[in-house]
Amino acid sequence: MDMFTRPRRLRGTPSLRAMVRETRVSKNALVYPLFVREGSKIKEEIPSLPGQFRYSPDTLPYILEELCRAGINSILLFGIPAEKDELGSGAWKGTGAVQQALRVIKKEFPELYCITDVCLCEYTSHGHCGVLKGQTVDNDKTLPLLARTALSHVQAGADMVAPSDMMDGRVLSIRNTLDENGYADTPILSYAVKYASAFYGPFREAAGSAPSFGDRKAYQMDYHNRREAVKEAALDIEQGADLIMVKPALSYLDVIHEVSSAFDVPCAAYSVSGEYAMIKTAAKAGLMDEAAIVCETAASIFRAGAGILITYYARELAKWMDEGRIG
Ligand code: PBG
Repeated sequence: MDMFTRPRRLRGTPSLRAMVRETRVSKNALVYPLFVREGSKIKEEIPSLPGQFRYSPDTLPYILEELCRAGINSILLFGIPAEKDELGSGAWKGTGAVQQALRVIKKEFPELYCITDVCLCEYTSHGHCGVLKGQTVDNDKTLPLLARTALSHVQAGADMVAPSDMMDGRVLSIRNTLDENGYADTPILSYAVKYASAFYGPFREAAGSAPSFGDRKAYQMDYHNRREAVKEAALDIEQGADLIMVKPALSYLDVIHEVSSAFDVPCAAYSVSGEYAMIKTAAKAGLMDEAAIVCETAASIFRAGAGILITYYARELAKWMDEGRIG
């Protein structure tokens, strides 16, 4: 047989495959999303996200200890308020769930890196991501409220803020407000490329943030578009975004590839609630090997070009990395 190139030569043993691997994963690249709600002594499982819980600030240390033991060093915090109003004023309340949680974390787990989701939808009575003008969200009136929310997070101890509202100009508005208040060194991770997606369904149940009318298509992106992702990312970087995010992840691997190749800032991907719920449900029904699917999908997101992966499976992935199931 006259054949010099035999790709199979490099697939013969596990150690050889691990040696020649193109995509390497690391626990340092994982971020774990966490829901905190106002109150005390609460740890309740989220029905739409089995295995995920809502915690009150005082019960957070249990899960945080577990994360640290697993080698996960970063979290993304979401807040669930006791009360909502038209403006979403609970978002910037000094005693809100996120703000309280940050104080607890910074005291008890000073090494844990805390990113906060900045949005109003969990706090507004109508569930939209900003202030309403009739049936639509008023972009420019929403900007100062987002900036105020980001500032209150940073004042409470957030290491990084991540605006997820999809208003135009929010990164600039947040950057200016942080700078004016002495936080020029706090980075912004922009949910720059966030599609209007049915994959957020389980999250909205978890956070009680489903819009009471309409949908988010007038501010989140249309999933038919790829070039628009480059435009969104460019705008946010111009406004001062230090890192950018593509969300969701699995149905958007082409977008992750495009955006991560086009810009020299770190690119994160958010494997969202619907992605977790699909795998969890299929695994529970005995249809698929959960660990194998999670490792394969996580590797595909890194292979597409993401440098950071936000995932509800962060703890399990850390364990499977230790076991050599994903490398
Ligand atoms: C807030 C926000 C959402 C998610 C992250 N930040 C919900 C939404 O935009 O409707 C979704 C996360 C997930 O599904 O895991 N705007």
